Amino acid sequence: MKNDRFLRACRREPVDCTPIWLMRQAGRYMPEYRAIRKQYGFLDMVKTPEVAAEITMQPVQAFEIDAAIIFADILPPLEGMGIHLTFEKGEGPVIHNPIRTLDDIEALRQPNPRESVAFTLRAIGLVKQELDQRIPLIGFSGAPFTLASYAIEGGSSRDFRHTKKLMYNHPTNWALLMDKLTTLVSDYLLAQAEAGADALQIFDSWAGVLAPGDYQTYVLPYVQRCVERVRASGVPIIYFGVGMSGMLPLLPQVGSDVIGIDWHVLLDQAWEHLGPERAVQGNLDPVVLFAPWEEIQSRADDILQRANNRPGHIFNLGHGILTETPVEHVQRLVEYVHSASARNESA
Ligand code: CP3
Repeated sequence: MKNDRFLRACRREPVDCTPIWLMRQAGRYMPEYRAIRKQYGFLDMVKTPEVAAEITMQPVQAFEIDAAIIFADILPPLEGMGIHLTFEKGEGPVIHNPIRTLDDIEALRQPNPRESVAFTLRAIGLVKQELDQRIPLIGFSGAPFTLASYAIEGGSSRDFRHTKKLMYNHPTNWALLMDKLTTLVSDYLLAQAEAGADALQIFDSWAGVLAPGDYQTYVLPYVQRCVERVRASGVPIIYFGVGMSGMLPLLPQVGSDVIGIDWHVLLDQAWEHLGPERAVQGNLDPVVLFAPWEEIQSRADDILQRANNRPGHIFNLGHGILTETPVEHVQRLVEYVHSASARNESA
């Protein structure tokens, strides 16, 4: 690998400067993305390997980022289970047959991701060729809880009441659903590593809506199982959630190499809780990219100072980059993180 500082940071090895990539780095803030988006529906883009590969490469061509992430979404793997998914304008994802009863859960199929999401595996192969070992490629999956929350709520949710109702009132049904999703997620992640992904990120975007005790009882055991199974791939594993500041002491139990944190916590304090055995990814508020450059720079400085050139920091946003983010700010941030963090004792 020509530039392996991202993978080195995942393993907490010394680096020449702090690696940076941005969650959702391919997307609507980029004019190149919007140009393709005009011609295709979102799911069509995900399901056409050549298009998904081209979109994956857009931020790689525009910025000196240290990792690519395959263009896909967390929800299409649910379709193979029998879930009807569409993306509606302005609404985001809609699941037309939400999973609420034991019958619904039992009827869910256990697909082989090598067949049901073959398009993403094929896109990974294309991107790997295109990248030609320039930078690593990240594969990803939603975590069992975050996928369950979409399947149960039928889309995005404010209070996740159907999800929590199922969890509290029918714990054995909950366990059955989470078992099925755990198998899906680990099969899918293993298949991505086999297809060429150099690292894997598990998005548990909404796990922060839970009380720590509920997270520990109803969610953590399943993520642990995913990570244990995916270990066999030998690639670094990143676990990411939003709003999980109150659960940081639990997160090392997930067993991932890297933990992604949002901006509700100071990076050095988060690292205290996570312990020295974990690499840390994050934690700039995505909205900061709308501020004047001097403000962005001072927030980046603060994060870099708190990381203090400790091996194992990957600079990123605390959540996905937002639509309408000024492209030139992304460009400057990537350059700035590299130059401001350059180590004297170059690796
Ligand atoms: O990081 C990357 O560049 C890879 C691409 C990626 C997308 N979605 C593309 C996308 C990744 C890693 C995701 C993950 C994802 N998808 C998550 C977890 C991460 C997070 O942000 O919390 C979640 C919860 C989803 C589900 C999802 N997909 C929602 C809620 C939406 C609608 C909101 C929105 O931004 O429109 C999507 C659509 C989506 N996924 C888009 C992109 C580029 C926008 C689609 C469009 O062009 O209209």
